[in-house]
Amino acid sequence: MSTKPTKATITFDNGAKPIELPVLSGTAGNDVIDIRTLGKHDVYTYDPGFMATAACQSNITYIDGEKGLLLHRGYPIEQLAEHCDFLEVSYLLMYGELPNATQKAEFTSRITGHTMLHDQLSNIFRGFRRDAHPMAVMIGVVGSMSAFYFDSMDVYNPEHRETSAFRLLAKMPTIAAWSYKYNLGHPFMHPKNKLNYAENFMHMMFATPCEEYTPNPILARAFEKILILHADHEQNASTSTVRLVGSSGANPFASISAGIASLWGPAHGGANEATLKMLEEMGDVSRIDQFIKRAKDKTDSFRLMGFGHRVYRSMDPRASIMQKTCYEVLNELGLHDDPIFKLAMQLEKIALEDDYFVSKKLYPNVDFYSGIVMRAMGIPNSMFTAIFALARTAGWIAQWSEMNADPEHKIGRPRQLYTGEARREFVPIGKRT
Ligand code: CMC
Repeated sequence: MSTKPTKATITFDNGAKPIELPVLSGTAGNDVIDIRTLGKHDVYTYDPGFMATAACQSNITYIDGEKGLLLHRGYPIEQLAEHCDFLEVSYLLMYGELPNATQKAEFTSRITGHTMLHDQLSNIFRGFRRDAHPMAVMIGVVGSMSAFYFDSMDVYNPEHRETSAFRLLAKMPTIAAWSYKYNLGHPFMHPKNKLNYAENFMHMMFATPCEEYTPNPILARAFEKILILHADHEQNASTSTVRLVGSSGANPFASISAGIASLWGPAHGGANEATLKMLEEMGDVSRIDQFIKRAKDKTDSFRLMGFGHRVYRSMDPRASIMQKTCYEVLNELGLHDDPIFKLAMQLEKIALEDDYFVSKKLYPNVDFYSGIVMRAMGIPNSMFTAIFALARTAGWIAQWSEMNADPEHKIGRPRQLYTGEARREFVPIGKRT
């Protein structure tokens, strides 16, 4: 077996002096060439989309895309989804260890102490159009929290960071549920702290002042799993956005609001809503071939939603858990013959046997089945990405706190390969052709 390299050398074909760079190793995954000093040699690296660039050090989450492995602080996602609740996983992401019983009780009590929204925040909801997308509302309301909690927004103070983390984690379900209630024109339901995190969200979504709502324990557990599966996923687009915004010292609410905006795109968190829309449009197994043909056509921008991933080159482990959860939820609700689920299973089978998808290693991702589970639970399509955002808040705040505590962190400031005009002289308007 070859030993790990400690140095790499860049040579140039014009006889310029070679540049020697250190190679760094983490505890798992690819080594990285430390290029921080390259600028001194008047050369940069070019990597649009960060295909091969590590922008930070992190010890929170690790993905092995070839093996389909996802670890949070070393624990496999399958074990966390099976045995933990969402707040335990959030604690793990924030503090690095699973809580013992006392720590868990204290953490839960601190979170539940922050679940209510400031009464004036309800006025901000009312400023939106009735039919505003819940993600648009969440971006606005979370950003506006910066105007409410300036008592604890010193990002370099660990206690302030922790308080902001509690506030975000605690209030996000209330904000997400209220954005839905606002769409419906229903009164906002306040949190009930005797319920657990998942049940409380379902209560705020589905209860009304005139109808009690008792969450079905199987559905609540399935919802909890959805939250756990979406809690963190390494340096994805929205997490990198949170880090980049936060790198300037911006407050946590502004940073997380930017993360929500990034998540909304259909290539990222918006894929769950887009997948269900695609399955509904497809409607029937007989139309699968037509959609697969379009996905393979390079002249068509259409992609099979819920398929493919930048990092996974095998099955997304979250998709396998979600598929199992789908069975459990549909069985519980007596929807064994759900046509959309059947269609999804058939589409998965056909795509996994198709040369195009096989050769490009395109497998179903977490978003392929999550929409089916949420739809069966009575959650409307427009809320799917909002629920992803509420879950991902746990990862965003852990990553944001890690960055702010890291003495090596610097403001994010990528370089560019300039392809515009070189310097030229101003031409008065009368002389322009
Ligand atoms: N359908 C058809 N072709 C695809 C798909 C797809 N869903 N995904 C990738 N490809 C093709 C793509 O056309 C390209 O082909 P070629 O090499 O011939 O140009 C090749 O596969 C590589 O694709 P890419 O866009 O260069 O890969 P990427 O790493 O930049 O993009 C992705 C990853 C997730 C954005 C992409 O696979 C995609 O758009 N998938 C559909 C949207 C989706 O389901 N997103 C959810 C991601 S998981 C949840 C989350 O973490 O947010």
